Amino acid sequence: MNRTRHDLAPKLRRAMIDLLNASLVDAVDLWNHAKGAHWNVRGPAFIAVHELFDKVAGQAEQFADDLAERSVALGGVAAADARIQAKFSHLPPLPEGTLRQARALQAVADSLAEFGRRVRKAIDVADEAGDAGTADLFTQISRETDKLLWFIEAHEER
Ligand SMILES: [Fe+2]
Repeated sequence: MNRTRHDLAPKLRRAMIDLLNASLVDAVDLWNHAKGAHWNVRGPAFIAVHELFDKVAGQAEQFADDLAERSVALGGVAAADARIQAKFSHLPPLPEGTLRQARALQAVADSLAEFGRRVRKAIDVADEAGDAGTADLFTQISRETDKLLWFIEAHEER
């Protein structure tokens, strides 16, 4: 860890850095999935879903940036290597090839749901550990993720 004047105990910061990096890896993978769907989707509502997936990607990028910077602020190092990210992501894989609209929506919804589930668990872990700042960041991300999941699922209705 890097030296810092931060007053939280090093052991606690270490645990939070690991928690933040685990979520960072998932957020980067969420960005990949959203961009993959943005690029490869085809269907009658192409423009709507193409733009919606880009909105998810933009949010995922912001989540990743916030998680990485919180990790570094606590004296850690952000997981920035694509090989590490690919190895440790918890998200289900995005189907390869051209994605029909319904399949793309389903895949991104599945990724958002798993990302959100893990972020919600991380809120409690950070809270119980005594790091209100990290718990607050996870809470913000959780709320935004819930909203994105709603946006995607609303497009799945027929
Ligand atoms: Fe684009």
